Amino acid sequence: MIRVLFVCLGNICRSPMAEGVFQHKVREAGLESQIETDSAGTGHWHIGSQPHPGTRRLLAEKGITYYHRARQFDRDDLNDFDYILTMDEDNYADVQALGTGTAKVARMLDYAPHLGVREVPDPYHTGGFEGVYDLLDAAAAGLLAAIRKEHNL
Ligand code: 4NP
Repeated sequence: MIRVLFVCLGNICRSPMAEGVFQHKVREAGLESQIETDSAGTGHWHIGSQPHPGTRRLLAEKGITYYHRARQFDRDDLNDFDYILTMDEDNYADVQALGTGTAKVARMLDYAPHLGVREVPDPYHTGGFEGVYDLLDAAAAGLLAAIRKEHNL
């Protein structure tokens, strides 16, 4: 099983959307028995919460079924996952600060270099969930293509 973890700050806006979008692509490709996903936040404030209404609305609009309850990123995740994808530079630094493990830690938007954007903006205070969705949809496609190539799937 290939395990993929998406990480943001609160685990209610960006990383659940990233997981939902990526999981949908995995299912469409018929790879759900080979690729497993999760998401987590570097912060603790929203542990146990369902995704933000903006994320839920966007995923529903796109026909994506998704269930998640927020959890905090843990240093064990560095060995429990094969890929850890962070949404912005703060998330990336916070994950690195917990140490290193067997997981490959990368920035989500590294998988959509053609967009010319390095960070997924935080929609928690300002909205903009549609723009976040577009970034994540492009990066999820690139990520799945890269994983398929690396694992001959
Ligand atoms: P997320 O957005 O990291 O995309 O889930 C945020 C959610 C909550 C907070 C910040 C960002 N907060 O400060 O509570």
